[in-house]
Amino acid sequence: MLQKPRGTRDFLPDEMARRRAAEAAMRAAVGRWGYGEVCTPTFEHLELFTMRSGENIKQEMYVFEDKSGRQMTLRPEVTASVSRMYVNEGRSLAKPLRWYYMADCFRYERPQKGRYRQFWQFGVELIGADSAAADAEVIMVADDLLRSVGLDYDLKVGFLAPMKHLISGVDPALQRQVMAYLDKRDLDGLKRCLETCGQAELEDSLVGLVSCQDPAEAFEICGDIPEKERVEGIFQILDGEGIDYTVNFGIARGLDYYTGMVFEGFAHNLGAENQVLGGGNYRLAKLFGGDDAPSCGFAIGFDRVMVSLGDYPLKKEPVVAVLSQPGLEVAAFGVARQMRAAGIRAEVNLLGRGMGAQLTHAAKNADYACILGKREAEAGTVTLKDLHSGEQREMKPDEAIAGVKGVGAR
Ligand code: HAM
Repeated sequence: MLQKPRGTRDFLPDEMARRRAAEAAMRAAVGRWGYGEVCTPTFEHLELFTMRSGENIKQEMYVFEDKSGRQMTLRPEVTASVSRMYVNEGRSLAKPLRWYYMADCFRYERPQKGRYRQFWQFGVELIGADSAAADAEVIMVADDLLRSVGLDYDLKVGFLAPMKHLISGVDPALQRQVMAYLDKRDLDGLKRCLETCGQAELEDSLVGLVSCQDPAEAFEICGDIPEKERVEGIFQILDGEGIDYTVNFGIARGLDYYTGMVFEGFAHNLGAENQVLGGGNYRLAKLFGGDDAPSCGFAIGFDRVMVSLGDYPLKKEPVVAVLSQPGLEVAAFGVARQMRAAGIRAEVNLLGRGMGAQLTHAAKNADYACILGKREAEAGTVTLKDLHSGEQREMKPDEAIAGVKGVGAR
């Protein structure tokens, strides 16, 4: 038996219905903030990603050569593509640009629960606004999207400047390592690393910084850095809007393009792969040949959100099974068509089953049986049976439609 590729999934209709319902809630929420949907190619030129992140990133991507010998890759994320698209198409548009996407991404990672090789991101990019208000808006959009699907999660907001300021004297080659240790809260690793580069005295201030509960404490440690006003502005708006978050100046984020504000979200009920949200400020447009457009965005790990939400009950529209005696198949299609025209889900018998077998099947799969026997066909009626209560009555098709619609969703 052939199997699907490692790290990918198949989705059955019930699961797809849940995914689509969550996606619809997120689309509705993001639309209320004025964001419009964009779509970029599933594959891109490899250099779109290596330009910023270096050749090493290839190990985590699906890289291939096309038939003309071009180096291509399946997109591992969408931010770089959206920045490229902005440079290609969006420069003359009125700013700020409020864009969102729902797109599958591909990463060559070791699969486990919540970590896949094909996964979906619901993301937002706000391009051309450089302010505390823009940063706060992006954080609040993310929060609104996750709350709109009922996710229980923790929001953590930070800013890179205090950390970068403290480590500005560290050998640039080691700065990334120091930031990675702080991000992972690996304090032993941090200590060792700082000792290696002769900066052991930084340990206390860095550990203090990542433990700060509010921005004022952070500025006591790192001093009045130029970004202070911006940082305070963001938190003032979040507080004013009653957003539930914690301050975390230890967030460094794995991707290497962030420049200022950074934020992450963690679902409560997931294991190791509990990060459902990541984002922040970046400036990629210049690298791709455009202006130095200030940008801010995030991506929600849609699959992890779905794992966290679990198999919640779906609001289902009633299903009508149109049952017919042999020879009345055409009439059954006609009744089903009338039902569908009224917006009802109607299914006809396709397997030539007898009436008894049709009823047994309907009892498992439908809410109503709409029975079409010889008598009904002659009288221009149907017998509508409520498969939950067992009640049934002969009536005109219009009345049956009204009956099904009147009861509404179960
Ligand atoms: P990221 O943190 O790499 O950021 O990914 C965002 C989210 O995608 C993660 O928080 C996680 O929920 C989900 N995710 C990542 N890898 C996997 C995987 N292998 N399987 C399932 N889910 C996964 C970005 O991609 C940035 N482009 C976000 C951004 C947008 N920054 C600014 N704008």
